[in-house]
Amino acid sequence: MRQVLIVGNWKMHKGQTEAAALAREVRQGLEGIDRLKVILAPPFTALAKVAEVIAGSLLELGAQNLFWEAEGAYTGEVSPTMLCDVGCRYVMIGHSERRQWLGESDSVVRRKVKAALHHHLIPIVCVGESLAQRQAGQSCAVVEHQVESSLDGLSPEQVQDVVIAYEPIWAIGTGHTASPAQANEVHHRIRLVTADRFGKKPAERLPILYGGSVKPDHIAPLMAEQEVDGALVGGASLQAEAFCRIVRLAWEHLKE
Ligand code: PGA
Repeated sequence: MRQVLIVGNWKMHKGQTEAAALAREVRQGLEGIDRLKVILAPPFTALAKVAEVIAGSLLELGAQNLFWEAEGAYTGEVSPTMLCDVGCRYVMIGHSERRQWLGESDSVVRRKVKAALHHHLIPIVCVGESLAQRQAGQSCAVVEHQVESSLDGLSPEQVQDVVIAYEPIWAIGTGHTASPAQANEVHHRIRLVTADRFGKKPAERLPILYGGSVKPDHIAPLMAEQEVDGALVGGASLQAEAFCRIVRLAWEHLKE
């Protein structure tokens, strides 16, 4: 069975005190949960605080971005070694908001993925089509291209340490989730293209998360799809109760 992950992407929310309080509430709310991976991805400035709060629990720490060099004259950037130093195990790469606002291209994403793996951070590579692309029937083609381009040059062994998050741009923060069938179809294509490029084994192990307006009401039907291995949760991860409900529902699904 593939690893199931639920990731809370806090985006640019929460100062240190608020972040610590939210992490504490989530920690308490998830007591008794096991087997699935639950990752909190606060902003850089709250990573150290959240690391302290979640130490020794099920929760793991993720960053929302990184730079590809280990150190040097790169003003304003944060390196993979710095993320490891603060306790991160995961790092999100290529979120559509970064592609949109910071001009992050597929080749930048590829460099970041390689750097993360080199430093033993697990990259959560975000892909997804725009509304216009979906309406033009290009969803699968766009996402396949993003996956191929992001993973290009990796070995099959390296691909075994990658997580993909399918986040259709039209579903992020809009309240419009992809239907479970729509998500499953794209996830299936992601697995096929990965198998094609890297072989069956890494493709079968690859966790593919769905992201885009995930709320407690959507998680059970999403998890019921064969190709959905968890969720990347934005807005709902800022409320401990909603986020913990999402995790519990995913966990219950695991037990079935
Ligand atoms: P959302 O964000 O759940 O608020 O749509 C998801 C994401 O952007 O990761």
